[in-house]
Amino acid sequence: MIKLENITKTYDGKAQVHALKGVNLTIEDGEIFGIIGKSGAGKSTLVRCINMLERPTSGNVIIDEKNLTNMTDAQLRAERKHIGMIFQHFNLLSSRTVFDNIAFPLELIGASKEAIQKKVADLLELVGLTDRQFNYPAQLSGGQKQRVGIARALASDPNILLCDEATSALDPQTTKSILELLKDINQRLGITIVIITHEMAVIKEICNRVAVIEGGVIKEAGRVVDVFTNPQSQTMKDFVKSVINMELPAGIAKMGITDQPAPGYDMLVRLRFKGAATNEPVVASVVQRFHTYVSVLYGNIDYIQDEPFGYLIVVIMGSMEQQAKAFEYIKELPIGSEVLGYVPRNH
Ligand SMILES: Nc1ncnc2c1ncn2[C@@H]1O[C@H](COP(=O)(O)OP(=O)(O)OP(=O)(O)O)[C@@H](O)[C@H]1O
Ligand SMILES: [Mg+2]
Repeated sequence: MIKLENITKTYDGKAQVHALKGVNLTIEDGEIFGIIGKSGAGKSTLVRCINMLERPTSGNVIIDEKNLTNMTDAQLRAERKHIGMIFQHFNLLSSRTVFDNIAFPLELIGASKEAIQKKVADLLELVGLTDRQFNYPAQLSGGQKQRVGIARALASDPNILLCDEATSALDPQTTKSILELLKDINQRLGITIVIITHEMAVIKEICNRVAVIEGGVIKEAGRVVDVFTNPQSQTMKDFVKSVINMELPAGIAKMGITDQPAPGYDMLVRLRFKGAATNEPVVASVVQRFHTYVSVLYGNIDYIQDEPFGYLIVVIMGSMEQQAKAFEYIKELPIGSEVLGYVPRNH
């Protein structure tokens, strides 16, 4: 378990920069945890505090019950063997082959030639680069370079892997394949993965939980499915919007929406579903119970990993009383729902 307790980091310079202002975060063993934020939010500073590449100004970094903040440099070096890291620009040694890049951390700890041979062969296999082992970094694509970065990070058998914008230099297709590899590593080796990104698509693709950081402060954290279907902070809402748009489509907004019920107006409702509730026959039961008409204006169903979630924007027609009763009923269902307003009938 990674526990960050009230971490602050102030960079001293001409002007002081308060990069982290009291961050508390717990990351469980075996999870894929995402940290999202805009440029300058403090993401890299935060992830570098986890392995103490950056010493926090105050607060505690506790990993598996050991407080890294109290350790000497020698103790830290030993501890860092359990924490691998990969970077946006791969940070490979250009004068070494793929094999020798992966072997590098093993040479540093004085592993035997045989041990290195065996370990590197296994890692090459894991990341699918066995046929490229004698190539130099300049001969590889970005995705292949990141695979080398991953293999090198895994050479010391870490139980935590930190990824700082590991896919930001890659195209969407290659990003997908690297994220699949990370997921595979997480499942096969049980490694805890911390992913720093400014892209919500990355979070959606593989993270179990996510925290959003802005101005050195964690604004919101939670399960990815929960946060996607019901973001609380403005920062998270903005990020969610970048991958799913739950706002009213422009055409509907133009219909002249009022916020109070009125005769001759129909109720505009947004329904949000997740998990098993996606199968809830809401529209059919409202029609049947309240003898109203329901028309679906807009809808979208998507998956966060294997969990379905989606939303519908519907118009509930009928008398004001029928509309109100229908919404009373919908409110009690195990789904999210909001009245967005009222639109003139026969719009
Ligand atoms: N070594 C440093 N010295 C002084 N200020 C720094 C240093 N590193 C980062 N900062 C400042 O700290 C703040 C947070 O930076 P950080 O690199 O953690 O952000 P980030 O979220 O990783 O941004 P990006 O998405 O652009 O990588 C910024 O204002 C940055 O300018
Ligand atoms: Mg950064």
